[in-house]
Amino acid sequence: MLLAGKKIVVVGGSSGIGLSTAEMAKREGADVIVSSRNVERLDKVAEKLNAIAIPADVTSDESIAKLFRACGPVDHVVVTAAQLRTGPFKTVAMDDVRSTMESKFWGAWRVARSAEIRPGGSLTLVSGFLSVRPRPNSAIVSAANGALESLAKALALELAPVRVNAVSPGVIDTPIRAAMPEEARRDMLAKTAAALPVGRVGIGDDIARQILSFMANGFATGSIVYIDGGALVI
Ligand SMILES: NC(=O)c1ccc[n+]([C@@H]2O[C@H](COP(=O)([O-])OP(=O)(O)OC[C@H]3O[C@@H](n4cnc5c(N)ncnc54)[C@H](OP(=O)(O)O)[C@@H]3O)[C@@H](O)[C@H]2O)c1
Repeated sequence: MLLAGKKIVVVGGSSGIGLSTAEMAKREGADVIVSSRNVERLDKVAEKLNAIAIPADVTSDESIAKLFRACGPVDHVVVTAAQLRTGPFKTVAMDDVRSTMESKFWGAWRVARSAEIRPGGSLTLVSGFLSVRPRPNSAIVSAANGALESLAKALALELAPVRVNAVSPGVIDTPIRAAMPEEARRDMLAKTAAALPVGRVGIGDDIARQILSFMANGFATGSIVYIDGGALVI
């Protein structure tokens, strides 16, 4: 097993890409700690996976410091937690764009500062392909993703021998779009799938597999890997 005896923390582990990562790490023999805000949902996931649940909010310095005090030294950490609020550049509320940076960028920053990762272990950040393939009405998400990808490279240097990488997903079918009207959501996913060389959108496991590869490959650091079904070549 790839991760036998390793201790892993998934911040954002109760849903989507984080949940897939926690499940896959568990199957590969890891001891898994999952963290997110909604305690009820987190406890359900932890019980199902036989993982440990520690609630935390990435937008709070103290909450993240407390999480990693409770975890102690660990082998691998992944941050998938984020809540994105975006809109047309000229009119989107400043509170919305600030809160996007607060969770997606500063959240990862806080985790990187607080986590005590053993030498040779790894931190994986999750950005998103809008960093290099922007689209209208998402400038703040592009900017946050680009900043995260730069942060991963900078931390690969500064936190060595801890390894730091980022995976940059394309469109992945997760609960992140739960607030969209169902028909519009399905329509968007179908159109995206039809345009991609792989003929489908991603699932959480597609990204989890890359995250586990970063954990297991001791030569991987400072890498940004785009897993997007070919979105960058169309
Ligand atoms: N899905 C995609 O198409 C896609 C594409 C590119 C990039 N990404 C990125 O991939 C990451 C994961 O996305 P996903 O699709 O897996 O989303 P998701 O299914 O909505 O899961 C997000 C997870 O993060 C937790 N979370 C949100 N805000 C948090 C906070 N402030 N503190 C702690 N935990 C928090 C959520 O639980 P609680 O709400 O209970 O806290 C949940 O466990 C995000 O950074 C997203 O931007 C996703």
